[in-house]
Amino acid sequence: MGKYHGTSSTVLRPRTTKEVSEIVKYCNEKRIGIVPQGGNTGLVGGSVPTGRGELVVSLGSMNKVRHFDPVSGMCTLVADAGCVLQSLTDYLAPHNHIMPVEFGAKGSCMIGGNCATNAGGVRLLRYGSLHGTVLGLEVVLPDGTILDQLTTLRKDNTGYDLKQLFIGSEGTLGIITGVSILTPPAPQASSNALLALPSFDSVLPLFKRAKRELSEILSAFEFIDRGAYDLSVRHGQGRGMSPEEAGGAECFVLIETSGGRREHDEEKLSDLLEHLLSEDKPLINTGVLSQDATQFSNIWSLREGITEAVSKEGKAYKYDISIPLSAFKEVVDATKDRLREKGLLGPHAVKEVVGYGHIGDGNLHLNVVAAAYTSEIEAALEPFVYELVGKYKGSISAEHGLGVMKAHALHYSKNGISIEWMRRIKDLFDPNGIMNPGKVLPPASGASHEPSLKNTGSGRVA
Ligand code: MLT
Ligand code: ZN
Repeated sequence: MGKYHGTSSTVLRPRTTKEVSEIVKYCNEKRIGIVPQGGNTGLVGGSVPTGRGELVVSLGSMNKVRHFDPVSGMCTLVADAGCVLQSLTDYLAPHNHIMPVEFGAKGSCMIGGNCATNAGGVRLLRYGSLHGTVLGLEVVLPDGTILDQLTTLRKDNTGYDLKQLFIGSEGTLGIITGVSILTPPAPQASSNALLALPSFDSVLPLFKRAKRELSEILSAFEFIDRGAYDLSVRHGQGRGMSPEEAGGAECFVLIETSGGRREHDEEKLSDLLEHLLSEDKPLINTGVLSQDATQFSNIWSLREGITEAVSKEGKAYKYDISIPLSAFKEVVDATKDRLREKGLLGPHAVKEVVGYGHIGDGNLHLNVVAAAYTSEIEAALEPFVYELVGKYKGSISAEHGLGVMKAHALHYSKNGISIEWMRRIKDLFDPNGIMNPGKVLPPASGASHEPSLKNTGSGRVA
């Protein structure tokens, strides 16, 4: 995104958990801050040093699969944190299993980072969040101790489930070095379709219809507004439909089915399309059903390529929010109105305001694409967007985390007591404040939780 820049004198690339432990122990003794880094694909600056003299600990050299048992029926993969998500998907393919998570960034993001940020993605609708699919973690704690909870047990009801604390803690409580995760059986057949909708009002009824008619085979239901669709097409991120087919559509929906019998599943999806098109007041203008693997991935590329298209178009202010589905359009429109009022809408300032995301999870990605990052635009957007989310009792971060971008805004989604207990947990695990300082928690008044760290000098890292 080019939004966050950090400096650090040193990047360390440990190859074993023991090496990570030694690094952390040393840094804790010397009060040196550490920024754990996976694939560096986060969108909130969580993996970037913040000028407190931090060292970067990159997990990329810890990239081995430790164990996979395809026979026992548990189907659990145990892997080093630095394994790239796509490489794990490739590893599982011959065993007919898949990873329970999938992101546009799959070619570079790493499983440890996925867990540390509790990343959501397009499979959450079907397989749930990492809080459910991760069975165990190995974590190096801020004093260098190795917490080995790399269990493969499906059921383990013995006291506090400590691993949950590290899922989504964005490296502020320790460094995840190993992950044990459930790998669902690969669906025998997957199909998808891209539907063009006359207006946003059709989205919710369409979602209800898709759930009712496709039931257990519905595996993704993604929303793309017109602006996001056009951006993705303009920057060559996959092909959806012809300009004639897209016509005057206000928005688009990508539906994916995954099931056990190709013919049966394809029939269900094409029946749905047929029913929708033959109604008096159709919910869709038209729909394109993928006919082969190339079309299937072209449709997905169109959706997954939006992030890259946005970055190619300009500088993006990205908001990743949970709000009621009915409010998706309202929020995009209200943001446009706000920028218009401030005289900031146009090629000189904000070029596009687009919305896309995971309808099935109530998660909207609101992206404001500007010619350049400016304090004027930021002041128009923040706290405006956070207040809007607060009005709907939503979340200011549905799946991207808080990082450095949203730490100060935590109070829009969590009350004072919750934040206080988060601070206590941070202090308990990391009393010297060495783990990913400046991320997740807002600066405390009195700032006892952020002790001064030794500055190790600077050298630029991207
Ligand atoms: C997505 O759903 O495409 C990702 O969360 C990335 C993004 O929001 O840009
Ligand atoms: Zn997303």
